Amino acid sequence: MRNLVVANWKLNPETLQEARSLAVKIEQGLLNVKRANTETVICPPFVFLSAVQPSLHFARLGAQNVSRYDKGAFTGEVSAGQLKQFGVEYVIIGHSETRREGVSDKIASDKVRQALAQKLHPILCVGFGTKKGSSMSTIKRVIKTQLKAARPRITICYEPLWVISKGLGKGSAAIPEHVIEVTDFIRSHVRGARVIYGGSISSKNAKSFADAGITGALVGAASLMAPEFLQIVKAFS
Ligand code: PGA
Repeated sequence: MRNLVVANWKLNPETLQEARSLAVKIEQGLLNVKRANTETVICPPFVFLSAVQPSLHFARLGAQNVSRYDKGAFTGEVSAGQLKQFGVEYVIIGHSETRREGVSDKIASDKVRQALAQKLHPILCVGFGTKKGSSMSTIKRVIKTQLKAARPRITICYEPLWVISKGLGKGSAAIPEHVIEVTDFIRSHVRGARVIYGGSISSKNAKSFADAGITGALVGAASLMAPEFLQIVKAFS
């Protein structure tokens, strides 16, 4: 199974032109990366999907969210089937920042089902609700509940809210030993899962996670600068 490095642009960049240019720069950089071991996914905001898609050759296109419904009177929602038509292959589900806005385990589970029905790869995020000082047994208990939304062979991302940065260099990542213990736990509960880590990953610390055996990363702030993001992809390649 290949490593996976996911760029989660969140509510960035501000303009369509910047989004296009960032995608092009990442693609150009990927030319010089050993891609056999690692899959790269770029998740722009919904409205930039169609602008970014034509620039992608090596990277796959992902979305940051998906509706739990397939159609109907659901204002503001975007379905898995609609995403598919824009060339989307991956979708982030249950990110801490969406759970904070009300995405529950039941909703996350519905979203995973919708994604799989359209043959999109779900990236189910778990870890929301844990705190910096939480004991390992508490963390495992919280995650076990959130894993009820998982299905065999999907991607799971451990990204507790407390490690997510407020911008590049404005956060502190969990230590690799902690992440390994949690990702092993996740792997033992979801058959065939690919398990990655998200939270304040940068070019400075990516190698320490890769060297510890973590098989990929969800990258927020550092994915908004092509050279920084490409260093992270290289670390996992
Ligand atoms: P960050 O975001 O890299 O900016 O901390 C990570 C995430 O959203 O999981």
